[in-house]
Amino acid sequence: MDSEAASKAVLISNSEAWQDLKNHVTEINNTHLRDLLSDEERLKSFIIEHDGVVVDFSRQRATKETLTKLFSLAKEAKLKEKIDKLFAGDHINATENRSVLHVALRAPRDVVITSEGKNVVPDVWNVLDKIKVFSNKIREGSLVGATGKPLTDVVAIGIGGSFLGPLFVHTALKTEPKASELAKGRKLHFLANVDPIDVVRALDGLKQETTLVVVVSKTFTTAETMLNARTLRTWITAALGQGAVSKHMVAVSTNLKLVKDFGINPENAFTFWDWVGGRYSVCSAVGVLPLSIQYGFDTVNRFLQGAWSVDEHFRTTPFDKNLPVLLGLLSVWNVTFLGFPARAILPYCQALEKLAPHIQQVSMESNGKGVSIEGVQLPYETGEIDFGEPGTNGQHSFYQLIHQGRVIPCDFIGVIESQQPIYLKGEVVSNHDELMSNFFAQADALAYGKTSDELRAEGVPEKLIPHKTFKGNRPSVSILLKNVTPFTVGQLLAIYEHRVAVQGFLWGINSFDQWGVELGKVLASRVRAQINASHTKGKAVEGFNYSTTTLLTRYLKESIQ
Ligand code: F6P
Repeated sequence: MDSEAASKAVLISNSEAWQDLKNHVTEINNTHLRDLLSDEERLKSFIIEHDGVVVDFSRQRATKETLTKLFSLAKEAKLKEKIDKLFAGDHINATENRSVLHVALRAPRDVVITSEGKNVVPDVWNVLDKIKVFSNKIREGSLVGATGKPLTDVVAIGIGGSFLGPLFVHTALKTEPKASELAKGRKLHFLANVDPIDVVRALDGLKQETTLVVVVSKTFTTAETMLNARTLRTWITAALGQGAVSKHMVAVSTNLKLVKDFGINPENAFTFWDWVGGRYSVCSAVGVLPLSIQYGFDTVNRFLQGAWSVDEHFRTTPFDKNLPVLLGLLSVWNVTFLGFPARAILPYCQALEKLAPHIQQVSMESNGKGVSIEGVQLPYETGEIDFGEPGTNGQHSFYQLIHQGRVIPCDFIGVIESQQPIYLKGEVVSNHDELMSNFFAQADALAYGKTSDELRAEGVPEKLIPHKTFKGNRPSVSILLKNVTPFTVGQLLAIYEHRVAVQGFLWGINSFDQWGVELGKVLASRVRAQINASHTKGKAVEGFNYSTTTLLTRYLKESIQ
């Protein structure tokens, strides 16, 4: 959009619905969650279920009236139209002129989803079918390494979206009984950081002849990934000879030419498309290939089906029963209107320990923007700071701040059935019940707090009363899953992906580009060139500010070459 058109663009913050919500803040600030939680009528409509996933919004600082106002904002922001455009393959990623169709990656074969007027679902399934055949061959040992040995270890090289999603799913399934049975005798390793320490750690205990390297990069140009790919190519060829690359290295990318130039057999390349954003790519070959080798294709297919169950829910369900929409609207309410800039993601399940790192990228790379999709500077902040740890570990770390310091809306994620229950004779409750006791308790502790009167009634000495008082009124949502299986992991992933999209649609930004990561990459090239010139030609550091010149000179002087 040119600057004239941009200046005419209407910002959502100029709408009546926005102003109405701003006016509503005072009323909510005068309401305590203690009171909201005693309104039974409200509670009934604040617990929503879809396909086994229960989400309890009752500890949000919101009334039915708040929701009505948020629905008006959604109408003003044309949320329904935007969701429809996403599924219709419109170029909603305007700055890159692309469709945003990660939903097509998990669509059943018979569904039609188009980009540029072409149904993309058959292309998706061609790759899935190819992965199924390839992963089966590796798993049953009919496709072997250069010396004829089965390929029992996989190292997936990739960073950002080419790493965090697959790591999240792998970590979630590792101890799932059926998946772990299917993974017996196999190991999946990740190499993300260009730090040589990560290389050494990823290769620890591995032998070239039984290792398959999967290079995962949408662009096949990411500096860190390509350097790690070259490092592992050398690791393989040094032990097994040049010819071993075709048997020990495969690739996942949209850039098949660069894959071929790198020396990987094009038949061992698994493609995806520019309408899949990196951080939304775990359901493409990016995740499906390494995870299928580890757990079998059928397991991964159930993960895709779980995501699709939520996709359909998101596309078709009225907003008042639509989980990602409600979560997204309430996040905007928390961030923009109530002014809480962070969100804690707190799974009470160790298997979900990599959810927060994955959602950090999905959310912050998507919604950390400063201008509207038309390029107009925004008068309000977008995005939130996501962080998290599994409970109860986090309780012994940063919860102090959440209870008595800053107000940080929390996502509590609980699971009804543990993947690995332990029942110890003589204990009051099982390990999992102990974990879940905390899941239930924390949400109420944050909401209700503890008053000085309550403390006095307990006989707490007067001088400690201020220290022991909890103001409460701290919002959270509770998400309850039946279990952590491939299907429910897919559901959880899609809930978060769509929630982020809803937030971006409301803020009027483009959640699907990431120009903010470019500048650092450009500056790193200048530093790289300087380091190279200094090492090879003894060139003094020049062209940088005093600070960088001083530290870089020191680095070059003392670093081992
Ligand atoms: O630098 C950010 C980023 O572009 C992410 O958006 C992306 O997921 C990651 O780098 C990796 O990119 P690629 O898959 O092209 O190697």
